[in-house]
Amino acid sequence: MSFESNFLWGAGSAAFQVEGAWNEDGKGPSVWDAFCHAPGHIKNGETGDIGSDTYHRFETDLAIMNELGLHAYRFSISWPRVLPEGCGSLNEKGLSYYDRMVDGLLSAGITPFVTLYHWDLPLALEREGGWQNRNTVEAFIQYAGLIARHFDGRVKHYITLNEPQCFLGLGYGTGMHAPGKRLSEQEIVQCIHYVLLAHGGAVAAMRAACSSPLEIGFASTGKICYPASDGAKEQQAASNTTAKGAHHAAYYAAYDATFAPDENWTFSHTWLLDAAVFGRYPDWVAPFRLLNDTLSDADLRIIREPMDFVGLNIYNGIPVDTCGRKVKKAPGFPRTALKWPVTPECMYYGPRFLYERYKLPLIITENGQSCNDRIFWDGAVHDPDRIDFLERYLRQLKHAVEEGIPVKGYFHWSLTDNFEWHSGYDERFGLVYIDYEAQRRIIKDSGYWYRDVIKTNGNSI
Ligand code: NOJ
Repeated sequence: MSFESNFLWGAGSAAFQVEGAWNEDGKGPSVWDAFCHAPGHIKNGETGDIGSDTYHRFETDLAIMNELGLHAYRFSISWPRVLPEGCGSLNEKGLSYYDRMVDGLLSAGITPFVTLYHWDLPLALEREGGWQNRNTVEAFIQYAGLIARHFDGRVKHYITLNEPQCFLGLGYGTGMHAPGKRLSEQEIVQCIHYVLLAHGGAVAAMRAACSSPLEIGFASTGKICYPASDGAKEQQAASNTTAKGAHHAAYYAAYDATFAPDENWTFSHTWLLDAAVFGRYPDWVAPFRLLNDTLSDADLRIIREPMDFVGLNIYNGIPVDTCGRKVKKAPGFPRTALKWPVTPECMYYGPRFLYERYKLPLIITENGQSCNDRIFWDGAVHDPDRIDFLERYLRQLKHAVEEGIPVKGYFHWSLTDNFEWHSGYDERFGLVYIDYEAQRRIIKDSGYWYRDVIKTNGNSI
């Protein structure tokens, strides 16, 4: 069996990366507005002030989605656009933008997938400590309930949080992302607990606020290990290594001394998903062990509120040997423009290992690559790199589906080129090229290629 007949083929975006209109119609500032406006944080000093101007051009993008035949569109709501201070009363003008989007998508037969938090925390909440303050949890739960009630009957699919591993690891750990904090690991695990309370509390509040059934998950990211060579032993080692989480010697010293240190130590699917699904943090990781001693049963009940699916953002993986040790890549290993390795195997092993662990339906909430795209002499945007990447990754996904892994949908990242966080506009992830000066859209070759994948429900790959 291959992709189910109701498999959702989609593409995604995030408010801060595309909307622009950063201070229009009563929107409050977010941590990302402040971070970009302060010098030295973003490549070329770029900001999200204009972005892909989607706030003013959503109808154009909708027409493109129709042309590509998308079944679903993943977008995020900007929390400070609808609640400028993070809590209190709704900003009707901001909300009406999302009304127009949702209604436009529905009348085009495109399913809206709404992310509630794609990193643009209202600045007012950050000033009170952001994710270090439990009040942010309460504010998020309230926000989630308001949105779910408002869209009851129109929006069925929600992603509460996008990549908590990343917005905490880079935003509160390395300081590379907004708000640019550099906290200790112990402080970060406390934040992880707060964001998972926000997730679980939101799921419950959203269900309570709606009369129609919802499907809710969060979009997780983390290191996926895959076997460098064939064989049952190799597969077991890769599965174990994926399950243990990031490769960070300090945390494994007593457990397994073979791991190499890595500064992005929060990038683990299982550390957070174990907590959200099983209600326990990994006690093989020192800071979580300490956190576990402080948690109440009531908190653990909140974080393990049942989810309907696990969202996976998958870009690349780590080849490991039979001992779970990272295998060195050959010189000249294929890489994207951002220098991320091209490792299609992670699109088979990631869903497989994480399904074996959690037994929940999966949705690939992001996958794609940045390319140095440009407009060619013939006026088109030729991106054979991206097509090759997608062909390889989607074949692996198909393999997983054929083996019975319940993957319900795939969202390409991204629909259009957009603001790639601290890398600014240099990195292009879209199926649709944006000429930022004129805000002109050109469907890339990969967009047309993806249209055929959708039309044939994956038979073309
Ligand atoms: C992860 C994030 O969710 C998204 O915002 C980002 O643009 C892509 N991956 C690519 O880095």
